Amino acid sequence: MNVKTKFPYTPLQIAMHLYAWSAFILLIFDFATGNLSPNPIQDLEQRTGRHALVLLVLSLLCTPLNTLFKWSEPLKRRRALGLYSFMYAVVHVIIFADLDFGLAWSNLIKEVIGKPRLVVGTIAFFLLIPLAITSFDIWKKRLKKNWKRLHQLVYFIAPLVVLHYLWSKKGDILSFQGEILKPMIYGLAIAVFLIVRIPPIRKALSSFSTRMLALFPKRNRQPETS
Ligand code: HEM
Repeated sequence: MNVKTKFPYTPLQIAMHLYAWSAFILLIFDFATGNLSPNPIQDLEQRTGRHALVLLVLSLLCTPLNTLFKWSEPLKRRRALGLYSFMYAVVHVIIFADLDFGLAWSNLIKEVIGKPRLVVGTIAFFLLIPLAITSFDIWKKRLKKNWKRLHQLVYFIAPLVVLHYLWSKKGDILSFQGEILKPMIYGLAIAVFLIVRIPPIRKALSSFSTRMLALFPKRNRQPETS
């Protein structure tokens, strides 16, 4: 009997899991082998912070991809991307609290309160917690309409993270000094993702892409679900 078993993962799923875990394994490997910069704790903080931001931005990219290309799969990957982002954010905060401050909570709180960029990061982190907890279907059912409202908080959190990033680069935005180019690029991407969510713009883009895609043969397309 010739039973063909379908491979259970799509290329997008493989790429997403590979990126998230390989970056994590590389981080542990570099830490274990002493292959970090002369300031290893800062190196770890920066790398985990950047991965958290990249995965957050990728999770925000899913809806525009669906709007523009009627590609349904990214919508199914949003939760995993968001949870991976949260995983890196947790590791980022643990490195800060444990490796950097040795869990000396009063010193740590003094440090955070004294630096606005850390206050901004902390707000972003605390806001991510309810999103991660309620990202599962059971909460979607329980919270009904409020689930969507709650999860729209991500459009507030992402700019906060960019601000935290920009600030940690100690650049001068007005005179474009310091290493501010990368945070600015993330900020711009988030701004675009926000703009394409505005209902009239989203509607116009969706009907434009429907007309464009009608010129090509249909393959595995699905209308927007959110
Ligand atoms: C309690 C909350 C947080 C604390 C205490 C914290 C702490 C820090 C510290 C100390 C740095 C600076 C490292 C340096 O000296 O350059 C940093 C950078 C950074 N953090 Fe956080 N952070 C927090 C939350 C977050 C969250 C939630 C994210 C993302 C989702 C994030 C993303 C970043 C990024 C992207 C950088 C800059 C990386 C770079 O310089 O390349 N942080 N954070």
